[in-house]
Amino acid sequence: MNIESQMILIFGATGDLTRRKLIPSLCHLLQKKRLTSCTPIVCIGRRKMTTESFLELLAPDRYVDNIEKNVLEDLLSRIAYFHFDPASHKTGDFVEGIKGIQQSYGCTSNILIYLALPTTAFLQTAQLIGALNFDKGWRRVVFEKPFGENLASAVQLNRDIHSVLDEEEIYRVDHYLGKQLVQNILTLRFANEIFSGAWRRQAIDHVQITVAETLGVEKRAGYYDRSGAVRDMLQNHLLQLLSFVAMEPPAEVDGDGVRNEAVKVLEHLRPLQPSDIVVGQYGTGSINGENVLAYRQEEGVGDESTTETYVAIRAHVDTDRWLGVPFYLRTGKRLQQRYAEIRIVFKHTANNLVGRCGKPNMIIIRIQPYEGLALAFNVQKPTEQDETESVLMDFCHHCHFGPNTPEAYESILYNVMEGDHSLFPRHDWIEASWEYIDRLRDLAAPPVVYDSGSMGPAEADKLLEADGRKWQNDVVVARQLSP
Ligand code: BG6
Repeated sequence: MNIESQMILIFGATGDLTRRKLIPSLCHLLQKKRLTSCTPIVCIGRRKMTTESFLELLAPDRYVDNIEKNVLEDLLSRIAYFHFDPASHKTGDFVEGIKGIQQSYGCTSNILIYLALPTTAFLQTAQLIGALNFDKGWRRVVFEKPFGENLASAVQLNRDIHSVLDEEEIYRVDHYLGKQLVQNILTLRFANEIFSGAWRRQAIDHVQITVAETLGVEKRAGYYDRSGAVRDMLQNHLLQLLSFVAMEPPAEVDGDGVRNEAVKVLEHLRPLQPSDIVVGQYGTGSINGENVLAYRQEEGVGDESTTETYVAIRAHVDTDRWLGVPFYLRTGKRLQQRYAEIRIVFKHTANNLVGRCGKPNMIIIRIQPYEGLALAFNVQKPTEQDETESVLMDFCHHCHFGPNTPEAYESILYNVMEGDHSLFPRHDWIEASWEYIDRLRDLAAPPVVYDSGSMGPAEADKLLEADGRKWQNDVVVARQLSP
């Protein structure tokens, strides 16, 4: 598909996301010739500064890797800073200013607007955008997560935003859907008979989804202490992974085809019971040999905080395909290793040929850091022929495709530019996920403390042990790490 000319507006441009994710992604898109020569970038912020001082603050040469010098210069030449503070400026100032910039370029009527802002600023900003009222070209508006804080606020936000923008114009970001191996789940499932045939309750014993982080709360206590792991990670990233693994084949693999099926997964989630939920909070401990503080000792966190930094659940998707197959989901901060993966664990084979069924087969989708896919199966040992060993067939994404895999935000931006909605949760998915999460929060006991550097609280192990299963904590690493 061809990328069209467009003006890009970034709200919240002086924040961390612009520097860490958006500017590097735009550089890579430009280098891959995915931005036309008419793509001005207007960075909007409340801080009073000039374009020159903004560029000094941005200083992309310090952190953007693998970019040619002339590409970086080209990108910087496209950036203009626009000072706008809703507390002291009027909507008319905004409209006039942006229209003026657009006319000065005079080459496009399309406009991509990225809201790198907290959820509390969404409505006011959407109203500003509504006031722009361009009569030509398209308008696409990207909202960062979190979208709401619970069902009631998400419903209200969707309603308010729909009064200004059509659903077609709205892109709600979940950056996990921009990750290569997450995008590959549907290809894996629906372009391979070997997998699609086996993707059903008759063959699968259970599914494990793990997103483990070594980082703590860092400088984000103001946001995180109100949010916790359930709202920060489970409501969005993990439930999206679950939706992609569990959905039925979509009628179309773009836009609403995928989103229709994703929402049906959430609609079929069995209501949780208290015994399905474990929440934890990190205590002191050591990560990679370094002692780290407990959550309650972190800057900005109260010493009686009951915010969870870990959550594990046992979910069930009550569809014909998945009846009786548990999905175990877990995520936490300050865990032993940083990795994200999905394990599809198969049943033991029914035909247990002279007791040689060995370990269960497994498909391991390695989302990060070693992107790829591994298949575990049993072979006969050469020396002891009546014994089996579980071995891996291992696909390493960057060994095969090279190191230039687009980063998640690059894919996200590219999909917005293409007008492809399939990687962006729709309003009904957001609301269904909050409904599930609100109930979970009502049922969850106070968090138990786990050691930093562990794989979470012992209670989370018991969640699986009660079902005769175990978390699989061995991280599978691609054998060849360089092409
Ligand atoms: C964000 C959360 O959405 O995802 C962070 O707000 C978390 O708390 C981050 O650290 C994890 O993303 P990634 O891509 O580093 O796994």
